[in-house]
Amino acid sequence: MRFHSQARTGDLTMRLVSDVGMLREAVVTALMPMLANIFVLTGMLSVMFVLNWKLTLFSIASLPLLWLMTSRSGKRIHQVSREQRKKEGGMASKASEYIASIKTIQSLSLENETIRSFEGNNSQSHSQEVKSKRLAAGLERRVDVLVAFVTAVVLYYGSNVVLDGKMSPGELIVFMSYLNNSFRPVREYAKYTARLSKALAAGERIVDLMDEQPDITDKPGAKDLVQTKGEIQFDHVFFNYQDKDNRVSVLKGIDFLISPGESVAIVGPSGAGKTTITSLLLRLYEPTEGVIRIDGYDIQEYTIASMRKQISVVPQENLLFGLSIRDNIALGAVNNAGEVTHEEVVAAAKLANAHDFISVLPDGCNTILSERGGSLSGGQRQRIAIARAAISQSAILILDEPTVGLDSESHVINALHNLMKQRTTIMIIHDLAFAAATDRIIFVENGVVVEQGNHEDLLRQNGNYAAWWKMQAK
Ligand SMILES: Nc1ncnc2c1ncn2[C@@H]1O[C@H](COP(=O)(O)OP(=O)(O)OP(=O)(O)O)[C@@H](O)[C@H]1O
Ligand SMILES: [Mg+2]
Repeated sequence: MRFHSQARTGDLTMRLVSDVGMLREAVVTALMPMLANIFVLTGMLSVMFVLNWKLTLFSIASLPLLWLMTSRSGKRIHQVSREQRKKEGGMASKASEYIASIKTIQSLSLENETIRSFEGNNSQSHSQEVKSKRLAAGLERRVDVLVAFVTAVVLYYGSNVVLDGKMSPGELIVFMSYLNNSFRPVREYAKYTARLSKALAAGERIVDLMDEQPDITDKPGAKDLVQTKGEIQFDHVFFNYQDKDNRVSVLKGIDFLISPGESVAIVGPSGAGKTTITSLLLRLYEPTEGVIRIDGYDIQEYTIASMRKQISVVPQENLLFGLSIRDNIALGAVNNAGEVTHEEVVAAAKLANAHDFISVLPDGCNTILSERGGSLSGGQRQRIAIARAAISQSAILILDEPTVGLDSESHVINALHNLMKQRTTIMIIHDLAFAAATDRIIFVENGVVVEQGNHEDLLRQNGNYAAWWKMQAK
């Protein structure tokens, strides 16, 4: 997550698709023929050597000069290509960001600004391209001139050798044609430098990405978390999103213990660190200090995959996939044993209060959603996500502001209650009507737990929670 919250989607996509494609194309169309050419070159040089070793040595003597020329320009072309790939990556990032937020751009009438900014990147990339083409063309011409010069000299001396009667005219013609052929790989190399440099730049970008190591991995000897009771403990947990050397912490010593099966509401002002708490529980990030335990053991002692299987999440900004509604719901059951039946999907949808709106869709459960579930309303998406959590048999449930899609009517609260039955539930919630119905409320402010207890306790304490409650009741 640390990597992905900083990485740029467009640039990453470009590395995965276009850089890899470019490298592959260069290998097939430039590198392979060049290797073949090297074989041809050695063969030809041997024949030429037999025909006339002096002239052959002279021709070979020009090769280092050619090599020097191509490698010097090659380096510069490579530099320009690298720059260009970077610019193109920037362009891809901009394009993907703009397209993903097209609604915001249109509502704020930012079309012209975004076009201008994109054009800026575009023309930068374009001028880099021109630069690299110009360098490559210059290199090609210089190589051509040098090859012509060497050919002329060889022809001149060769003619003299023929006139002296030491070589037949036929042999000279063969020699000349071999010479011409043996220069071909060099000329081709010049022609391909631009392409190869680009491919090299692309290759570097791929390697950069492959060098990236995940921050969070299974510890050696980590065990699978198979059947959890669902006890969760935060023991003096500190965390900040920046690097480890301390900036201002987001969490400043969070302590709480949730018993198996208990339902807990986390309440608090925006930016208090509520979502962060759940991200740490899922081990998307690692605490800078303190320990998080499930069933009494540090979560770092479990394998990540097995631990996450025990937790189902309805995230704050939940996104669906461009699949059918049924598949989107069934994703939650990937870890359950056996196939997901239609009845289970329907039951989950009913529980999440989603069945009514699904059944009026033309294809019902089989309706294919658009990318990221954009064809549903925010609340409908949320209800699908809740159905997804409902179908999962995991022992721990995290709901981050699930009420966007739900109305605080009693049957909805009941539905959530059904969902929470027999599971340890952490529900982050602004609507205190839902919070009041949980076993315990944890009030978080500024990265610390300031109050906890059940609804009545907290009202009696007459602190932050009581103040919120009064305000909402009004
Ligand atoms: N990926 C991130 N990188 C850097 N800082 C972050 C990141 N995510 C959250 N923060 C910061 O951490 C703090 C806590 O964020 P968090 O999302 O946990 O708040 P929250 O309590 O869930 O708020 P809300 O009720 O608005 O959802 C905020 O100040 C936020 O700016
Ligand atoms: Mg949040």
